[in-house]
Amino acid sequence: MERKWFKELSVYQIWPRSFCDGNGDGVGDLKGVLGKLDYIKSLGVDAIWFSPVYVSPQNDYGYDIADYYNINPEYGTMEDFKAILDGAHARGMKIIMDLVVNHTSNEHEWFKKSAAKDPKYKDYYIWRPGRGKDGKKFPNNWMSTFPGNAWEWNEERGEYYLHLFAVEQPDLNHDNPAVREEVKKVMRFWLDMGVDGFREDVITYISKREGLPNGFPIPVMRGMEHYSPGPNIHKYLMEYRQVVKDYDAFQLGEAPMMTPENALKYITEGKDQQLDMMFQFQHMEADCFMTSYLRTKFNLRKLKKVYRNWQHKLYGVAWNTNYLENHDQPRVISRYGSEKFRVESGKALATLYTFMSGTHFVYQGQEIGMLDYPFKSWDDFVDVATFCAKDIMEKTHLFSAKKVFENCAYAARDNARTCMQWSADANAGFTTGKPWFHVNPNYKEINVEAAEKDPDSILHYYRAVIALRKQYKDTAIYGRYVEKLAGSKKIFAYDKVADDGSVLTVVINMTDKPVSAAAAKKCVPDGAKHLISNYKGFMADELKPYEAHVWYTAKKQ
Ligand code: GLC
Ligand code: CA
Repeated sequence: MERKWFKELSVYQIWPRSFCDGNGDGVGDLKGVLGKLDYIKSLGVDAIWFSPVYVSPQNDYGYDIADYYNINPEYGTMEDFKAILDGAHARGMKIIMDLVVNHTSNEHEWFKKSAAKDPKYKDYYIWRPGRGKDGKKFPNNWMSTFPGNAWEWNEERGEYYLHLFAVEQPDLNHDNPAVREEVKKVMRFWLDMGVDGFREDVITYISKREGLPNGFPIPVMRGMEHYSPGPNIHKYLMEYRQVVKDYDAFQLGEAPMMTPENALKYITEGKDQQLDMMFQFQHMEADCFMTSYLRTKFNLRKLKKVYRNWQHKLYGVAWNTNYLENHDQPRVISRYGSEKFRVESGKALATLYTFMSGTHFVYQGQEIGMLDYPFKSWDDFVDVATFCAKDIMEKTHLFSAKKVFENCAYAARDNARTCMQWSADANAGFTTGKPWFHVNPNYKEINVEAAEKDPDSILHYYRAVIALRKQYKDTAIYGRYVEKLAGSKKIFAYDKVADDGSVLTVVINMTDKPVSAAAAKKCVPDGAKHLISNYKGFMADELKPYEAHVWYTAKKQ
């Protein structure tokens, strides 16, 4: 496998609105980030990925961009951004931008001009007349991801426009070469400024089947088969690839519903490669059916199967990403671990994914073991996705009102968007003003300041595993994944084997009960060096709840 700098990164994701407020107006901002660069660096990470910081009316919290060339005034100025870019680079950290080009905000100039049929912009979006006698029937039966119909009527233009996400997020028409030129211009602008890569938002949706035919008459995600992916996806991505080739930068595509087989069509290394890596979602479905709104019990074997599949199928030909949280996912301890065993399970989960092959991601707050928010009523949510899900669940009449609420509270993206917990001070030290969103009431106990003082904290453990991942990179980052105890519903165990035969061995009890260590012991080579555990000492006859260990065995001389 070819070694590249971006394969070795541990990346810290910032969702700017809730990270740190630098000016006391209650909203996270770039000044706040600037003041935390040393903290971020102290984690041992090598890069920061910014969720969108561009001008946006914030209908989807920045994923609805109104101007790709300027910073959202609430977050600061371009000077602030450049200070972060320089500050990060000076500390040896890269900066990765979110590139959201499947759609813009409906407040973008392009959209306004397109609605007004300005000749230059009239085909920048996907417009269709209404059907039927009254001309008001939707152009086709497609649904949007934030459930509901994918079409919205525009009075000025007298036509419908397509939106695969919120009504305020009209889809750009990438079939129009002028739109593709705009995208390239945006990419060059940020690359010229010195950013080191892009995380490309729902990039596999940018090509839509010509004629926009009806989708299968299923009640969810109708039409998806016509744009996920569409016929020109590889061609368009290849064009965008050419832009990045001129820079020492990389591209990471977000890819909903992706399988390893399909991923290889995008990320196989070589001349046809369009993206360096992808965010897939299958490993985030071990406690649900397809979507986290349809909750099931956490199923370890389901999780193992996904890792087995991705680690094996990409090995030697393409590159994985490893994440457990982001701004769209509830907190992983609350999902795959145990709030009761917060510290133990937080460390177990850190162990589980940090030593997999792939570029490594940590989401703000994950490193201190932040938990889901205790939502009490519908007024507690702000995310458009939650209200759409509520609506569709109610329409199915399959769930009681209580169950609809429970499902939404469990799955809500708002869980990940509560204010970062910096200290036990007012508002968790996030702001001196009135925070724009909830602070989890557990902040007095769970915060960065407390974690710094506690040598056994999740925070210190993250630092340790991030450092080990680098120190043992031949195995941890580039080694071959060999699963152990595949049939076990309780223990997650694997080896990472380097080309020279050195082995890193990971063993984790993924349950909240003690389990016999007899089988696990057989996985550990004689004479292996013990690297880390979330419990004191070596493995005894029993693994305690969420007990995790990592060993290393150097190749025999
Ligand atoms: C991606 C983003 C998500 C956003 C959506 C539409 O999935 O991660 O936050 O709502 O795309 O842009
Ligand atoms: Ca602010």
